[in-house]
Amino acid sequence: MDIEKITTFCFSPTGTSRKNLLAVLSGLKEMECQHVDVTYDNPSQMKTLKGEDLAIFSVPVYGGHVPPVALQRLDKVRGEVTPAILLVTYGNRDYEKALNQLEDFVRERGFIPVAAAAMIGEHSYSNAQNPIAVGRPDAADLASAQEFGAKLWEEKLSGCVDSPREISTRQMPKVKTPWQNMLRFVWFVLGYQRQQKKNPVKIYPFAPADQCTHCGNCVGLCPTQAIAVGKEEVTDPARCIRCCACVKGCPSGVRTFDSPFAAPLSKNFQMRRELLYIY
Ligand SMILES: Cc1cc2nc3c(=O)[nH]c(=O)nc-3n(C[C@H](O)[C@H](O)[C@H](O)COP(=O)(O)O)c2cc1C
Ligand code: SF4
Ligand code: SF4
Repeated sequence: MDIEKITTFCFSPTGTSRKNLLAVLSGLKEMECQHVDVTYDNPSQMKTLKGEDLAIFSVPVYGGHVPPVALQRLDKVRGEVTPAILLVTYGNRDYEKALNQLEDFVRERGFIPVAAAAMIGEHSYSNAQNPIAVGRPDAADLASAQEFGAKLWEEKLSGCVDSPREISTRQMPKVKTPWQNMLRFVWFVLGYQRQQKKNPVKIYPFAPADQCTHCGNCVGLCPTQAIAVGKEEVTDPARCIRCCACVKGCPSGVRTFDSPFAAPLSKNFQMRRELLYIY
């Protein structure tokens, strides 16, 4: 079976899942390629790929899972026993169930996973006070991702007579965290949950009204239309997924999200993680 065309599907509010996807793609053989970016679009029409096509799915990890909005937007994608590469990008803590969930989702829609990778991206909550995987994916990450793509192509996909052998993401290597860091983080999460039970407070990104220039950048960057033109200093809590695209894309640096998780994440997940994959 010769692969004739690649279609990529990507959800990436702060751009790291997109960078990682393009790096893997650059290692594969050059051929016709269509990019479907669902970060801003909610495709209403069914999109069906054939068996000779190759699909690549790339999404971030939120709370150890795939963001529900990404799955909603990919809901109408179908394969016909179409091979698929599954990529998740996480902020240096852990990818947990995200790849398993993405595998189940694409299998239900007619795709056959043939490779999977867990990749690193700067954490959406990272800021100057609490840096977490700053600048990732960096040049070394992008080179590893390209090498992964090239090896996958040469050793598995190129000149494959039958359909490429399927993989299970349940065989993926696990992320290893020293037990002290893990314990400290779990301790923080339990305390936070206890506090939220007693006194539930949800916080969202905002900008001080006297500092926002109303440039409107954040409105265009928000994947869920949670920021209204003319009222850019506030956020609609019913729509916000706390992706931090608006924070990272505010040219004046005045839109912030003070996540209580930023400090414990920064403290406990400083170790450099590398690309994990199977094919
Ligand atoms: C709401 C939310 C939850 C997150 N949960 C996790 C997580 O469970 N583990 C992790 O390592 N990173 C987590 N992250 C960090 C993102 O996975 C990471 O920053 C990723 O690079 C973002 O992808 P994007 O640039 O494509 O938006 C989370 C980020 C957000 C916004
Ligand atoms: S990007 Fe920043 S300065 Fe521009 S409108 Fe949004 S919050 Fe205001
Ligand atoms: S308002 Fe919320 S959903 Fe919109 S970009 Fe900012 S963090 Fe993301």
